[in-house]
Amino acid sequence: MKIFLICLLTLLLILLIISFGIFIYGFIRDIFKKSAPFLPVPLQDLETIQKHLNLNSDSVFYDLGSGDGRVLNYMLKKHPTISAVGYDIDLAAIALSSLRTWRYRARAKVYLKSFYRVNLSRATHIFLYLYPEVLVKLENKFDQELKPGTVVASVDFTFPNKSPLKIIDLEKPRAFKITKKLYIYTW
Ligand SMILES: C[S@@+](CC[C@H](N)C(=O)[O-])C[C@H]1O[C@@H](n2cnc3c(N)ncnc32)[C@H](O)[C@@H]1O
Repeated sequence: MKIFLICLLTLLLILLIISFGIFIYGFIRDIFKKSAPFLPVPLQDLETIQKHLNLNSDSVFYDLGSGDGRVLNYMLKKHPTISAVGYDIDLAAIALSSLRTWRYRARAKVYLKSFYRVNLSRATHIFLYLYPEVLVKLENKFDQELKPGTVVASVDFTFPNKSPLKIIDLEKPRAFKITKKLYIYTW
C-alpha cells in the first residue's frame, strides 16, 4: 500500500514537472516568435473592457487569442443573448476556455486554430490582448475582412495606421504594472 502511494505521488510529481516545463517552453517560444504568450488579462479589468466594448443584444464577440476564456466567459455572462467565438493555438488554453464557457455552449465556440487562418467578417466586436507585431499583421487582415463599424478593443498595443477613438486607463494591478491602457477602434 505504502509503495503504491509513493509510486502514485512520484507519477503525479513527474506529470506536474512536465506540464510546468511545457508551459514555460510555450511561453518562451511565443516571446521569441514575437507571437503573444499566454498572459491573461487581469480579472479586475474585465468590467472596464465590457463597458467600453458596448456590446448589444445580437453582437457577435470574438476574442482573438482567447487564452483561458475569461474574457469570453465574462461577456457571455453579462450579455445573455450575444454569441462569442475564441481562437487560440495553445491546446491547454483551449481546454481551459472550453471548460470555462461550457455552460454557454449554445452560443459560445472556441477553436484550436490560428486567427490568421479564419475569416473574421461575422464579428461585430473583437477583443485583442496580443503583441505589437501581431497587430501590424492583423490591421491588414481587418481592412480586408471586417464589416464597417466593427468595434475592436486592444489592451496595451495599438495598430500602426489607425487612430483609436478612445483610450481608457485600466487599473494597475497591485504587484505589477502589467496592463495600462485599453484602445478602442471602429473599423
Ligand atoms: C496575452 S494572451 C491573452 C489571452 C486572453 N485574450 C486574455 O486576455 O486573457 C494571448 C493569447 O493569444 C494566443 N495566440 C497567439 N498567437 C495566436 C494565433 N496566431 N492564433 C490564435 N491564438 C494565438 C496565445 O496562445 C495566448 O493564449
